[in-house]
Amino acid sequence: MRAEADGISEGEFTRFQALMQRVAGIHLPTSKKSLVSGRLSKRLRARGLGNFGDYYRHIVGGSDPAELQTAIELLTTNETYFFREPGHFEFLAREVLPEARPGAAFRVWSAASSTGEEAYSIAMVLMDRLGTSAQWEVFGSDINSRVLDLARTATYPTARNEECIPPDYRRRFCLRGTGGMAGKLRVDAAVRERVRFAQINLNGDLKGAGEFDVIFLRNVMIYFDLDMKRRVAAALHRQLRPGGWLFIGHSESLNGVSGQFQPVRPAIYRKELAA
Ligand SMILES: C[S@@+](CC[C@H](N)C(=O)[O-])C[C@H]1O[C@@H](n2cnc3c(N)ncnc32)[C@H](O)[C@@H]1O
Repeated sequence: MRAEADGISEGEFTRFQALMQRVAGIHLPTSKKSLVSGRLSKRLRARGLGNFGDYYRHIVGGSDPAELQTAIELLTTNETYFFREPGHFEFLAREVLPEARPGAAFRVWSAASSTGEEAYSIAMVLMDRLGTSAQWEVFGSDINSRVLDLARTATYPTARNEECIPPDYRRRFCLRGTGGMAGKLRVDAAVRERVRFAQINLNGDLKGAGEFDVIFLRNVMIYFDLDMKRRVAAALHRQLRPGGWLFIGHSESLNGVSGQFQPVRPAIYRKELAA
């Protein structure tokens, strides 16, 4: 049956739903039908295909992996901004960093970093509290390679972001664009150089990322089905050092997902210290 308003039939939508679940662990509820059709319709035209069924067969056929990646990227939600949910950054500065082991490298993972604002917000706090002489780094990753390309530029529209960055950090860690860069701000080199990005699908093997003191997994679990939430929570638990911290979004919870972490505050969890 074809739903005229959406241009995508129930059967076609079900196939894209299953594909997103299989590849990214993302659950697309039926309410997202118009979104799927709206975001993918220009790709059908770009590939000269007449309907969503043909486009589905094209991307799962294996002959065009880049188009499969494009479709997945178009179906992810990438909204983010600097110092989102600011209490987490205050907690990081006040409670977590004073406990950093002297002399040891301090590693933080922004595990669904989108365009990088979260990773650079963390890095500004670490630069402020740990300084340039300490060994620390921030690792940002996302399934979407297009947002990671933007993250690597560390350049953002001033109007949308300036207000979110604390004035002191803005002055110390951000450059204001002039000339051709007017209206843009760039995170300064000293902070930028401590942040690196790589494409990682949380639905895959996460061991390669290494061990972390803190992991931010914010505003991404809401898109996952329960099984995926459980697998990701267990995998990230393994990647945290004993006593390490997990921050999730304030609209998310580990209730019914994982009993491995100690709840500390709403949306803040800790891995037990080794006995
Ligand atoms: C709404 S953004 C959240 C950004 C940031 N963490 C924040 O809280 O502002 C969600 C991000 O999760 C990414 N994402 C979705 N599924 C993913 C997966 N399976 N593996 C890695 N990243 C994923 C999306 O590409 C998107 O950039």
